[in-house]
Amino acid sequence: MSDIQATQTRLVDDITAASDLDTLEALRVAALGKAGSITALLKSLGGMSPDERQAQGPQIHALREAITAALAERKAALDAAALDVKLAAEAIDMSLPADTAPKGSVHPVSQVMDELAEIFADMGFAVATGPEIEDDWRNFTALNIPETHPARAMHDTFYFPDVGEGTAQRMLLRTHTSPVQIRTMMEKAPPIRIIAPGRVYRSDSDATHTPMFHQVEGLVIDRGIHMGHLKWTLETFLKAYFERDDIVLRLRPSYFPFTEPSAEVDVGYRHEKGRRIVGGHGDDDGHAWMELLGSGMVNRRVIANCGLDPDEWQGFAFGVGVDRLAMLKYGMDDLRAFFDGDLRWLAHYGFGALNVPTLSGGISA
Ligand code: PHE
Repeated sequence: MSDIQATQTRLVDDITAASDLDTLEALRVAALGKAGSITALLKSLGGMSPDERQAQGPQIHALREAITAALAERKAALDAAALDVKLAAEAIDMSLPADTAPKGSVHPVSQVMDELAEIFADMGFAVATGPEIEDDWRNFTALNIPETHPARAMHDTFYFPDVGEGTAQRMLLRTHTSPVQIRTMMEKAPPIRIIAPGRVYRSDSDATHTPMFHQVEGLVIDRGIHMGHLKWTLETFLKAYFERDDIVLRLRPSYFPFTEPSAEVDVGYRHEKGRRIVGGHGDDDGHAWMELLGSGMVNRRVIANCGLDPDEWQGFAFGVGVDRLAMLKYGMDDLRAFFDGDLRWLAHYGFGALNVPTLSGGISA
């Protein structure tokens, strides 16, 4: 047996016996690496006479090929074995029950805001927004709420620390969505038709009041606007929202500094199986009136504060609690549950993960 054949037999035996990939790699480097034994044999060809080279060359190349093939074969075998071990260790028991991922759903407040945006879009209203951290001027002064008004009292409003720049710049958590009226009138030329949904804040907390709640403001500014437009708009909106034609409104004289005249709007309702069902005339048998929203013709002073001529431009505004609208439509009775994030509560009132409500009809559609 030639030396080369003996080397081949020895190397192939070592390779076949290699029990892991590290050992195999060490053998490869020792044979075929830069300083490997076969590499040395290949290099030695250069120093041979042509006859020697003709005799040895094919043998040395055959040796390299045989060893390369043996290494590849052993590597495949070791890889396969390693994979088998890994698969055995990581076996998944398909018969085990899967973890259930908790599924969320749309929140009633978001749902109602979407419904309102849709209903008012049909009447040509755009959606406007403003910041929840508002300045004193837009939240109070521009809306004709005087310094002495009780709404400005510390115990009713959340103020930020005074930075000493004067009352007008004092920042607070907005107490209503009405400052969006000011922002819109100052930024856009009339005619204006907007609703402004959003969060508002007051220092209040009991079963029907939470320190944060939601309102939708409505504002129309145009020429020749009167209270008939206000009443029609509110009737059309409430009929669409409650999905019934027998909505009866009662406008009661009231007072808001930013509207003149002002009206509190009541809606007729009755009790049915412990639920308030909106509809019908509040003076009919078994019916009553429920206060639903505040409204009025935008005060001339507010229009002037925004740089518009009140002799040319008039309008109406209204504000309504979104949480209250949601409670009435979907039959919830405790406002605080709105902010608990309890999925069982949502499911109980029909808000399921895959129950995607339609925009205008809500989950009853
Ligand atoms: N901003 C009033 C409130 O929060 C509601 C309202 C808005 C009244 C617009 C009249 C007109 O109570």
